[in-house]
Amino acid sequence: MPKSFSTLRINPARLFDSFSALSLIGATGDGGVNRPALSEAHLAARDWFCAEAESAGLDFHVDGAGNHSAVLTCQPSNLQTLLLGSHLDSVSNGGRFDGALGVAVALEVLKTIKENGINLKFDLEAIDFTDEEGTLVGLLGSSALAGRLHPEALKNPRGGRQNLLEGLARAGLSEAGIFTAARPKESLAGYLELHIEQGKRLERMGIDIGIVSAIVGIRSYRLGFIGRADHAGSTLMTDRVDASLGASAFTLAAREIVMGDFPGCVVNVGRMDFAPGAFNIVPARVDLSLEFRSPDEEQFEKMDTALMACAKEQVTRFDLGLEIECFEKHAPNAMTAKVQQVFADSCEDLGLTHVSLASGAIHDGQSFDGVCPIGMIFVPSVDGASHAPREFTKWEDCVNGANVLLQTVLRLGRG
Ligand code: GLV
Ligand code: MN
Ligand code: MN
Repeated sequence: MPKSFSTLRINPARLFDSFSALSLIGATGDGGVNRPALSEAHLAARDWFCAEAESAGLDFHVDGAGNHSAVLTCQPSNLQTLLLGSHLDSVSNGGRFDGALGVAVALEVLKTIKENGINLKFDLEAIDFTDEEGTLVGLLGSSALAGRLHPEALKNPRGGRQNLLEGLARAGLSEAGIFTAARPKESLAGYLELHIEQGKRLERMGIDIGIVSAIVGIRSYRLGFIGRADHAGSTLMTDRVDASLGASAFTLAAREIVMGDFPGCVVNVGRMDFAPGAFNIVPARVDLSLEFRSPDEEQFEKMDTALMACAKEQVTRFDLGLEIECFEKHAPNAMTAKVQQVFADSCEDLGLTHVSLASGAIHDGQSFDGVCPIGMIFVPSVDGASHAPREFTKWEDCVNGANVLLQTVLRLGRG
């Protein structure tokens, strides 16, 4: 790459101002933000995106899935597009860096390239994907754009059908319109994302940049343990058909199974809903929200089989019924080797240390597996905190990551 390009850097003060303004939208007062997908706060953050694109003189558009894009067009016309993205939605009461940093950095990279009058061999698009976090569906905008969204995914989404319909109405979107976001795979040059690590590995190793090798696969289920309502005072302990026992025993056993037999994998029971749900009624039903993840497909299948067998064992043990509803199945995805190498070259040039690691969190990049080249970098998370208000990344690390992304775009687009 010519010397003049390799010395180019993002504008840290401009990025800081832009990211600080974004952090105020939906702020919870404890350092975090509450911006569930298509909530008022999330839509306000999208207004911020629109204003940023306009003030930078970038083309702006919104697709049928609500994905927000700022585009820097290059010459000649009809080039492929390199997407730089992340998401502005948050989990409920989440942190201000997850997703938001990647979107702010993507915009800053476009601004830097535009103000330096650099022509690339692809158009460059900063994109804010709809509902990465799965408060509604999960990876909704990116899977729609990649042409991977199945209509079934909208029928019984993990955030509830009513929430989805209300969110779409609030954002002026329609269910049918979501599918119009699909782009021909030939139009995409690739997808790159900067994200916080959301774990402690980089901090522990004292390394500047994580180059993601693969993103875990994820499955989520709702398990309904069915018992029988009875008077909690007058029904003998031996006569109860108590749904809570199956749900609780399953939760403890699932932990043992995954810790014992599936190293590198994780399982989470994030919610239990009791019905009728009273002090003095034996639980007739417990709906349990189960999620598990693995970076390896073969392990993933075995873990699924083991966990479902465990649920069946517990309902037999406590004489309960069981209903199993599957919400999502995303296979583990490898990142493109060439992109990983270019990230590494950029780090070397910038004098930054780097390491290859798998992502335990899901990300929009996995929607593009098999569609176009994909790559992700991580910047260190202080104390590994994420999906919580104490989520934090040192500003110097944010700037380092932004420069790695800039240099990688230049290498790919000028090389
Ligand atoms: C999203 O960040 C997830 O990994 O659940
Ligand atoms: Mn994220
Ligand atoms: Mn997240």
